[in-house]
Amino acid sequence: MSKKTVLTGITTTGTPHIGNYLGAIKPAIQASEDERYDSFFFLADYHALIKCHDPERVARSSQEIAATWLALGLDTDKATFYRQSDIPEIPELTWILTCMTSKGLMNRAHAYKASVDANRDTGKQDLDDGVTMGLFSYPILMSADILMFNADIIPVGKDQVQHIEMARDVAGRFNHTYQNLFKLPEAQVDEETQLIPGLDGRKMSKSYDNTIPLFCSSDELRKLINQIVTDTRAPGEPKDPDNSTLFRLYSCFANEADAAAMRQRYLEGIAWGDAKRELFEFLDSQLSAPRARYHELMGDLGEVEAVLQKGAEKARARSMPLLDQVRVAAGIRPLNYVPAQQSEQVQEKKEKSAEEIARAEEGRRRAILMQLKRYFDRVEAADDKAAEAALILEEKAAEVATLKKKAKQKAENELELLTEEFAQYTR
Ligand code: TRP
Repeated sequence: MSKKTVLTGITTTGTPHIGNYLGAIKPAIQASEDERYDSFFFLADYHALIKCHDPERVARSSQEIAATWLALGLDTDKATFYRQSDIPEIPELTWILTCMTSKGLMNRAHAYKASVDANRDTGKQDLDDGVTMGLFSYPILMSADILMFNADIIPVGKDQVQHIEMARDVAGRFNHTYQNLFKLPEAQVDEETQLIPGLDGRKMSKSYDNTIPLFCSSDELRKLINQIVTDTRAPGEPKDPDNSTLFRLYSCFANEADAAAMRQRYLEGIAWGDAKRELFEFLDSQLSAPRARYHELMGDLGEVEAVLQKGAEKARARSMPLLDQVRVAAGIRPLNYVPAQQSEQVQEKKEKSAEEIARAEEGRRRAILMQLKRYFDRVEAADDKAAEAALILEEKAAEVATLKKKAKQKAENELELLTEEFAQYTR
């Protein structure tokens, strides 16, 4: 059985934080080590343009995200790691799919609806105020990302599940209208990874401004951890680990045994200051090696760029042939394109007519030979058949020499036939 394709994209608008690492990057890299899957990970830089019109930020984020994934040990010989904008087939497919997508489906997209709701809440006359066509049709670009590689499994956050369903919808419409070229993808949501707490205890997210950058300096890491809010329990008083952001972050990084040991220390009344120091030291020790590698890569972006280019080549080996099929299925074809099935029929017809020509030729030959029967009778009656045949050929050649045009042509044909037929005697 062929391998399943796992695919996910990372929008290039921010700096990777610990929530991204635990929730998306780490599980993705782990999955890419699994021989049962073919992994496709990409920088969704065309998606970045939907919500960010700051070119420096988009460009910087692309550098940071690429360097982060490599620093964390992504093996780009196993996984296909590329940048969306290096695959021109994706925007081409986006248009073809756009023509397959009903506007009503896009009206229901959460991202668009959220903008409309916000406009309504703030009493705006125009409910579409601030909505670009990019935002409106963004699920189609995402569908193209996924369908372009016939991906089976799409690991995403809960907020993205609707988009995968839309991708299935659009794929189904294409398959039904034209040709069954697309697989229907499935979303894979890891419930556990939804729970990574940020500095304020809510889900770690850029929109809450409560993130810890994955590769910030040790000093910054210590400072941020010290900001984490704790309760007023004194040292020695038992602490509730499950309600502690410090403990929850610790357990996201720790193995089970370490987490259990730390839980015990909370129950035994670890001081908050110690809990913070322990968390800092633990995170710092885990992150220091990839952090060093990250800074190395950020100082050698040519190397990172080369990795992405290699990834694009691998990705395009899949996207180009599929897009060719898609275009042809939709009628976007070279003018002299002949469908495979039809070209077989044409071939058959050609073969048939070759046979027909042969048959017609044989008939013509027999008709001429019948008119030449007298010559055959002469040879038949002669004692020296070879001499008689040679004599006839001589006579015929002399006749050809005296004739003109049509008659000459006819006689030449006769001579040719006789020469062939008498070969058995004269050779
Ligand atoms: N829209 C996704 C997000 O914001 C990123 C993304 C773009 C993506 N294309 C994708 C995710 C294709 C999975 C598959 O998280």
